[in-house]
Amino acid sequence: MMTSHEIRRHFLDFFRSKQHLIVASAPLVAKNDPTLMFNNSGMAQFKDFFLGNGTPPSKRVADTQKCLRVSGKHNDLEDVGFDTYHHTMFEMLGNWSFGDYFKKEAITWAWELLTEVYKLPKDRLYVSVFQGDSTDNVPFDQEAFDLWKPIVGEDRIIYGNKKDNFWEMGDTGPCGPCSEIHVDLRSPEEVAEKPGKDLVNADHPQVVEIWNLVFMQFNRKADGSLEPLPARHVDTGMGFERLCMAIQQKRSNYDTDVFSGTIHVIEELSGRKYEAGTGMADVAMRVIADHIRAVSFAIADGLVPSNAKAGYVIRRILRRAIRYGYSYLNLTEPFMTKLVPTLAMQFADVFPELNAQRDFVATVIREEEISFLRTLGTGLGRLDQIISDLGEKGTKEIPGETVFELNDTFGFPADLTALIAREKGLTIDETGFQKALQEQKARLGKMQPHRQVTGSNWPKPTGLSLLATTSQKPMRIL
Ligand code: GLY
Repeated sequence: MMTSHEIRRHFLDFFRSKQHLIVASAPLVAKNDPTLMFNNSGMAQFKDFFLGNGTPPSKRVADTQKCLRVSGKHNDLEDVGFDTYHHTMFEMLGNWSFGDYFKKEAITWAWELLTEVYKLPKDRLYVSVFQGDSTDNVPFDQEAFDLWKPIVGEDRIIYGNKKDNFWEMGDTGPCGPCSEIHVDLRSPEEVAEKPGKDLVNADHPQVVEIWNLVFMQFNRKADGSLEPLPARHVDTGMGFERLCMAIQQKRSNYDTDVFSGTIHVIEELSGRKYEAGTGMADVAMRVIADHIRAVSFAIADGLVPSNAKAGYVIRRILRRAIRYGYSYLNLTEPFMTKLVPTLAMQFADVFPELNAQRDFVATVIREEEISFLRTLGTGLGRLDQIISDLGEKGTKEIPGETVFELNDTFGFPADLTALIAREKGLTIDETGFQKALQEQKARLGKMQPHRQVTGSNWPKPTGLSLLATTSQKPMRIL
């Protein structure tokens, strides 16, 4: 069986053989881009090249990029753990043409790599092309259709709308029609029952998109209009973890060797076996195996859990994982910190920044765990009481003031309260929470202008400011 290391290496070697320069991943945290908090796709670090505002080191580039989809236009956080193929942090394998080759090469090379190098069965692959959109005045992608037809045959082509087949990095920025490649990983019996084509883009865990070929032609402006880019480019993104699932013939990303090492440590720490099922203990193991990657790499890239902006996103992800471990695996002592060494070793060759700062990352996570575990049990007890009181009154919504109290007193981010509420069939009053938060900010602002207002403050270890500057690396070339 091809290992995940080999799968990654084959991708980079393949594009090297097609005269691509292999570059290193940019940090998870997006730099110098006010429209983006985290790098959410491989192309984010190349945005300026598409817009014509910079010169790429080569007209052909390939890499594997650490991506985080937890905020803004691309946000998969709520699906993580419950399904088997979404992640907060994932690797995106990508090849780029900056005003060089276009659809023909992108399509033929993608097919060659998938079927000749990775040997994915041709009769399990489907492709989609953009059907056009009259509001944006962008026509049906006839060129992509004409290129795919002799390769896969017309009956394997799906016509996709703007939601699925017009890729945009954010509300503004470079964009264009795209052509996705989907794989059907079901058993022959399941395939005989229903054609894979009917399950494309239908959220089926075994019929998933693996590669998106984007043909960058436009810039979406703040007023919503599209303007043509100075040149036409190719931006492709292939989900590494899903690709490994397809090549290793697994039913879940978590069954591949990308995650098995971490899951094994979680099994040892919790004394429970991972059953790959839908029970909450298995969900918790998947959530933890996913979240530790996002948190560890974000810290290695210069972030620390905090009460503001990107640091707060990391804190929320970490606290979410801690609570899953606490409630469903009985992990009441710091445990996330113990997963860092396995992860650091696993990625030492491709993302050496984690191994280089392994102890620091483990310390930051441990401190955050100690701090949150101090209040978690009492906070959960209080929330149980609140939920039971509401049940007696027949109310299904937790008031904003209560969500605020849990946040302020026990360090429960509002989305964590919402998650726990949802497990019990309740919702939270998000607007009321925001109002209470603003009122407190205004109150404290008058009294102590410099104090942070919510949650407990994480004690800063030494070396923090040094780390924050080391992440500001220019694009590295491998
Ligand atoms: N930029 C291509 C993708 O993220 O799918």
